[in-house]
Amino acid sequence: MPKILVVGSINVDLIYRVPYIITPGETLHSTSCHIGMGGKGANQAVTAAQLQAEVYFVGAVGEDHYGDYALQNLRDRNVKTPFIKQEGATGQAIIQVTDQGENAIILVPGANYHITAQQLDEVCDCIKTADILLLQLEVPLAIIEQATKLATAAGTKIMLNPAPAQPLSDALLQQVTILTPNETELALLTGVKAQDDKGLKEACQLLLAKGVQGVVVTLGSRGVFYYTNKRNGYVAAKKVPVKDTTGAGDAFNGALAVALSKGQSLEDAISYANEIAAYVVTQSGAQPDLAIHLTCN
Ligand code: RIB
Ligand code: NA
Repeated sequence: MPKILVVGSINVDLIYRVPYIITPGETLHSTSCHIGMGGKGANQAVTAAQLQAEVYFVGAVGEDHYGDYALQNLRDRNVKTPFIKQEGATGQAIIQVTDQGENAIILVPGANYHITAQQLDEVCDCIKTADILLLQLEVPLAIIEQATKLATAAGTKIMLNPAPAQPLSDALLQQVTILTPNETELALLTGVKAQDDKGLKEACQLLLAKGVQGVVVTLGSRGVFYYTNKRNGYVAAKKVPVKDTTGAGDAFNGALAVALSKGQSLEDAISYANEIAAYVVTQSGAQPDLAIHLTCN
């Protein structure tokens, strides 16, 4: 069974359906709202656990009802939680989703910014035995940097989903096995507007020159572009009716980590992850039940 360690965020998602994304100075009616479980770290962990990986999580939730609820959700979904602490207020994401499935998010980090270096010290053994350390950027950069160092020292592969977009040091990028930016994140990390094939290749080459081993760029409905020293190319996205794109990128990352841990080729792993992400787009919320994908295979 693949073993994946996620160091990342846990949020409660407050999801509002709106006819369009609100504009400054406006009061807009929401047509429906609901509370869901989210956070990029948690979404990726729940995906991986549902796809039969053994998943451990380092993170923090608040000492509040949302925190209890979020912890219970992770446990119910087979994510191992001994390294999650409860302190402060649970992270929140206030999400507007349009009928076209587009979203806009306000992030309140809360407890996600209370993760400490000591928590990482406790998981040293777990980092050593994990197939992949899976990271995103909704927790403090100092935590990402320390987790990365521990994984590098242990010889564990590092998959970094650089979302939400923020600049990263060369020292960090140098240690990354697989980097999974979207176009915006790729442009921010490289300074190259990667709008066409030539731009994508140029941006990926820059990252490889910094020491990243493989780049997997998610292009939404246009699929995925991948780039390594050995090969590069596109994998098409599956066309599906869009309901809510929230969590699709996270499902992609969680599934990619599982497939790569099982030793699948990069192309096969991307196809598999595309399949899972496409399903999540057809469902509301960031952590839909993936049981259908286990029974149909
Ligand atoms: O990637 C989607 C996630 O981003 C949501 O679940 C929300 O919590 C935000 O962090
Ligand atoms: Na969704």
